[in-house]
Amino acid sequence: MLRLFPLTTDPIKRDTGAGWDEMSEAYQRDSDISLDDVHYAPFAMGESELNLLGSVEGKFILELACGAAQNSIALTKWGAKCVGMDISPKQLRQAAKYCAQESAQVGLVRGDMERPSMFAPGSFDVIISSFGWEFIPDLSACFKSCNSLLIPGGTLLVCTAHPLNAFEWDDREGAALVTDYFSPPVEVWEAPVADGHGPGMTFFRTYSEMFDLLTRSGFSVERVVEPFPHYLTDEMDAGGGKSPYVGSYWSASRERLSRMPFAIIYLARKTA
Ligand SMILES: C[S@@+](CC[C@H](N)C(=O)[O-])C[C@H]1O[C@@H](n2cnc3c(N)ncnc32)[C@H](O)[C@@H]1O
Repeated sequence: MLRLFPLTTDPIKRDTGAGWDEMSEAYQRDSDISLDDVHYAPFAMGESELNLLGSVEGKFILELACGAAQNSIALTKWGAKCVGMDISPKQLRQAAKYCAQESAQVGLVRGDMERPSMFAPGSFDVIISSFGWEFIPDLSACFKSCNSLLIPGGTLLVCTAHPLNAFEWDDREGAALVTDYFSPPVEVWEAPVADGHGPGMTFFRTYSEMFDLLTRSGFSVERVVEPFPHYLTDEMDAGGGKSPYVGSYWSASRERLSRMPFAIIYLARKTA
């Protein structure tokens, strides 16, 4: 079931959404994402091995920035009841195709995860997202909304781009050019929109900034994980092994991925 809601006119969100409409096909083609596991980072272990969420049987789960909803589909197969939200209609159309293909009952909603206001407070046991948080300018507003949507003691799983990825990778040096870790640059990328080209933006945040944002939004941080690309081995020649997140897009960055974390996961619990 796909529901389309009126969207924000915020130009950053509009252009980010348009950019993802444009990138959707290539992203789904070049990233090989499992429909049977929750993915966290390229060539890294997924939820079936990391076990961050525990049993999800019967739990109500909201997946923000769900893209093609691979995580929601896997969680549904494990007994959860999932809703996936994304801002890009093309990503959601692909999600609807995968849901039909896998006979997975996932609610799909178009909306802005910064303020997901269409759900009642306390609707979810768990809120997760892999790689949506870094597109949100006001992450404090987003975390506060998540807090209100969760039941007391509910789980928030924030899997996002590691702050080191804000910096250029120098192939010749085999190192990242970390110019100023304390003020990671905002990545601005061209996004085609109906009336021309507007910039999409990716925001990188240091560990301490993320920790403060979460704790000030009523969460306690229980675990922090920087997933290691265990399945990026010479023997497998970037084949992926059991990782639920592989593909040609990622194997092209083999050296960088093997030396610097791509993702960071914050496992947080609603305390207030
Ligand atoms: C890197 S993709 C990740 C998709 C999916 N979670 C995955 O791991 O494949 C980023 C997603 O964030 C979505 N997105 C960006 N800004 C958003 C916003 N403000 N609200 C909801 N979704 C957003 C994009 O449309 C895109 O599908």
